[in-house]
This record gives sequence, C-alpha cells and structure tokens, in this order.
Amino acid sequence: MPQPPDFQPRDDAADRALRPKRLGEFTGQRQVVRNLALACAAAKQRREPLDHVLLSGPPGLGKTTLAHILGAEMEAEVKETSGPMLDKPGDLAGILSGLKPGAVLFIDEIHALKRIVEEYLYSAMEDFRITVQLGEGASTQAITLTLPPFTLVGATTREGQLSPPFRSRFGIVERLDLYGAGDLAVILERSARLLGVEAEPGGLAEIARRSRGTARFANNHLRRIRDLAQVHHGNRISAAVANEGLDLLGIDAAGLTEIDRRILRCLSLGRRPVGLKTIAVTVGEEEATIEDLYEPYLIQTGMLAKTPQGRVLGQAGWRHLGLAVPPEADAAQERFL
Ligand SMILES: Nc1ncnc2c1ncn2[C@@H]1O[C@H](COP(=O)(O)OP(=O)(O)O)[C@@H](O)[C@H]1O
Ligand SMILES: [Mg+2]
Repeated sequence: MPQPPDFQPRDDAADRALRPKRLGEFTGQRQVVRNLALACAAAKQRREPLDHVLLSGPPGLGKTTLAHILGAEMEAEVKETSGPMLDKPGDLAGILSGLKPGAVLFIDEIHALKRIVEEYLYSAMEDFRITVQLGEGASTQAITLTLPPFTLVGATTREGQLSPPFRSRFGIVERLDLYGAGDLAVILERSARLLGVEAEPGGLAEIARRSRGTARFANNHLRRIRDLAQVHHGNRISAAVANEGLDLLGIDAAGLTEIDRRILRCLSLGRRPVGLKTIAVTVGEEEATIEDLYEPYLIQTGMLAKTPQGRVLGQAGWRHLGLAVPPEADAAQERFL
C-alpha cells in the first residue's frame, strides 16, 4: 500500500521557520486579521491586556501562528501548552502563577481540556484569581491567589466540543477558513524566498491550486518540491517542476491525496450514505483526522456531503472518480449542498 505523504498536523521546526511574526505579514483571513488588529490596538491604547481569544478552524490554517503573533503585537511573552498536557488543576496553577503581567497563555487543542481543569480556568479568566491547596492531608489549606492580568488564547479544530459556559468566556472568537489559491500563492512566494529557492509564478500557482486550501500543506509541498528542484532542476521551480513534484507526492490534479481518494472510493461502493466509523476503518485513519483534516476540503469542493444518514459523494466526487453521477446524488446535492 502506498504510504500517504506526511500531512499530519505538526508543530515542528520546519513549521516554525516559515511562520510570519506579525499581523502585517499574515496573508489572507482578512476579516480575522482586521478584527484582531483592532482589538490589539484598542487594548494597547487602554494599556490593558487583550481580551481572551478563541481561534478555531481546520489544522494548518495558522492558529498557532496567530497565537504567537498576538503575543508579538501586544509585546507580551507567550507561554504555550496544550489541552492534553494539562492533567489536573495543579498543572494549570503552576503555569498561571508564573505568568508575567499582560502575558499570553496559549492553550492549543483547548477542546481536549478535562472538565475539572476547564472549570478551574473560569475564575482565572474572569477575575484573575485562582485557589491553590497548600499542605497535605488534615493540614490542607486553600488560599486564593490574585494573578497578574493575562490573555488566554485558545486554539481548537473542534469548536463545537467546547462547553457553552467556557466558550462564552472568550471575548474574541474567530474562525479561520480554508485559503483561496491566490492567498496560498502569496504565502508560498514568501516561503520560497525564506527557503532560498527560485520559483516562477506558474510553479507557485500550481502548488497553491493543489494544496487543499491549507497553508501547512502548501508549505510542505513546497519543501519537497524544493528538493526536486535543487537536485534535478537548477534550484528553480517552474510549473513543470511543480507538476512533476506533486505527481511524485501522489497529489492529483485536484490536489487530493491518497487518503482523500480512498475516502471518495469508500463512498462510491454502496449506493447509500456511509457513517464516519465505517469510513475510518475502510481508509485506515482516525475518525477525528478524517473529520478535521480531510473532510473540510472535500465538502468545500462539493465532492462529499454530510447528510443526517451519513456521508455521501457529491457530484464533483463522482466526477473526480471518473464515474457517472447517479440520479440519487443529484437529488442529494439539491437537498444538502
Ligand atoms: N496566513 C499565513 N501566512 C503565512 N503562513 C501561514 C499562514 N497561515 C499559516 N501559515 C503557515 O502554515 C504553517 C501551519 O500554520 P499553523 O499556525 O501551525 O497552523 P495551525 O496551528 O492552525 O494548525 C506554518 O508554517 C505557518 O507558517
Ligand atoms: Mg497549531
């Protein structure tokens, strides 16, 4: 079985190296950028920390990048942790009590916080106060600590999993959307410059068009294609080199990966809606990965649709597989897309 290329969300040195540092360098997501710029400017004028911010959207669109940018714009230090890493209130108390005034506390995958850790955050977010237990056993004492004002920035791929009371404690809630090919080409141009590879507009446009609307995919493709350009094509990415590289990566003309195609094929087998569990087992991926990472683009392009009975192929999905669109797909299209 061919190995799917490395598209998993990750937060490694390669990602960090290409991260824009300020809002002005952040391409696309214009509404989000405008809102955040305004909020930062207003908070700075009032000499207050920024309101708590919740960033949501599929992986690889720039949530972590924006969290660090907010720190830079507010000239504040950023402390980074993630939902799964915070096991008990004590873990959080240690981090909160060490924050400097105005600091940004970035909690990635914030939907994964345990309930008791989440509830412990409430008073910290609202009143900048926490209770800590001192001592052990019978001599335990609870004392209340006043924290310096700070900004909580949460990132999540699953906003729907946040409890309403938690979500309502964020003053600023912004959702990132898939990028258009034009924005991705701009992102790629900057990345190519940073990576020191020459790239023709046609080459960048081809990579942008086949990156599923996702900045991380675009940058990952660019890095791999740079290798090809460097070794075989005088370190220059033309449209032809981009094409060759994308083909080698198993990215088809529509930008789909092997996993995307497996998902579509799985839906084409029976003539009825398929549940997420069945898809996951059939294509050999986690349910959450399919839902968060693969489906958004397939839905946006009309290749897949969610119905109350399960997932079905959209007209574009049938066509992508080179199959005739069955009449029931036409009907489903009208009802659900
Ligand atoms: N608007 C953007 N402009 C430039 N690069 C971006 C942008 N959004 C994301 N990237 C790049 O994409 C990669 C993934 O971004 P990241 O912030 O880690 O995404 P997320 O946290 O949403 O999964 C990083 O290398 C980052 O530099
Ligand atoms: Mg991230």
